[in-house]
Amino acid sequence: MSNLARLYPLLDDVRLPDDMPYSQVSKWEQGFLYLLGRHHLTGKGRLVELGSGGGGSTYALALGLKESPVFDERTGRLHAYDFFRVGKGTFATEKFFTSGAKPEDGNSFLEDFQARLEPFLPFLEIHAGDIWQTSDPDDHSPIEFLHVDIAKTQRVFRCVAERFLPRLEPGAVVLHQDFASPRLPWLHHSTGALLPYIELAGPPVRSTLAFEVVRPVPEEVWRRIAEDAYTVDEKLELISAVQERVDLDHTGGVPFRPVLELAKAFVAHYAGRPQQAWKIAEPLTSDEYLSRTRKDHFEQLRKALEAERAKTPRPSAVIRFRRLVRKAIRR
Ligand SMILES: C[S@@+](CC[C@H](N)C(=O)[O-])C[C@H]1O[C@@H](n2cnc3c(N)ncnc32)[C@H](O)[C@@H]1O
Repeated sequence: MSNLARLYPLLDDVRLPDDMPYSQVSKWEQGFLYLLGRHHLTGKGRLVELGSGGGGSTYALALGLKESPVFDERTGRLHAYDFFRVGKGTFATEKFFTSGAKPEDGNSFLEDFQARLEPFLPFLEIHAGDIWQTSDPDDHSPIEFLHVDIAKTQRVFRCVAERFLPRLEPGAVVLHQDFASPRLPWLHHSTGALLPYIELAGPPVRSTLAFEVVRPVPEEVWRRIAEDAYTVDEKLELISAVQERVDLDHTGGVPFRPVLELAKAFVAHYAGRPQQAWKIAEPLTSDEYLSRTRKDHFEQLRKALEAERAKTPRPSAVIRFRRLVRKAIRR
């Protein structure tokens, strides 16, 4: 049993305040964050949240830390990274503003975040802006806890993989939010590459996969993850390895095996192989969960395939064209 498994039986009894800040993560995931802060983390290493948004997840974790018998507010630090503003490419929603909408005179919700997180500001260190600018490439200090709710693009995942993941040592805990998103396959194949060195906490909690690093990860593995140095076939195998370990989530609502199968289709899609992507995705269109929740994903893959077919002339059209050319030359 993993060190984190003991938190699962406590999940049902977590009672968070009614006026928690708006969050894109579920009550279950907030509960898990709270329990980690309350019963597991010490604050001796860095506690890092990437993608704090309006503070819903940050609040749950910080509350747990505040109530923890071992976390020392004077020395422990929770680092919160986010744009803290809305706008194109930020993946932040106007719901992160206290009013629920962007005011006329600005696009930053940082002050709203600070007001909500007021009880925890003494131990909260806020890094506002693009993570590539706000993180320090020379900071190699060990990270005790990493909540990843930011890696919505490959560009951002690369920053996470270069500057944060290699700072995880045995004992460190990672939470991958959005693990149930097939469009983010880098979360899945990187986890596959780490399997020999980590212990999964247990089933995912809704969309979040939690694991603990239990053996030192070789530098070469960190390098390959950061440089995206796995072939398509290797990535598919790595995801298959995760599929063998992860099935239904803790609440019974998310079936990860088909979700991860669809993630494989996105590996092929991002590699510019629409035919292979559709070959993987098509049989999944009859999956009850995916057909109900991921219609847009199938649409995206189908459109990419159609676009590819439209670019490639069909053989009969090619033959007709050649005949016309020959005729024209004979004249
Ligand atoms: C899914 S939201 C986080 C939700 C939050 N954890 C909650 O509990 O509601 C993802 C966040 O990542 C942030 N983000 C995405 N790319 C970023 C980048 N390059 N630098 C900083 N923040 C980024 C967005 O601003 C957004 O708030």
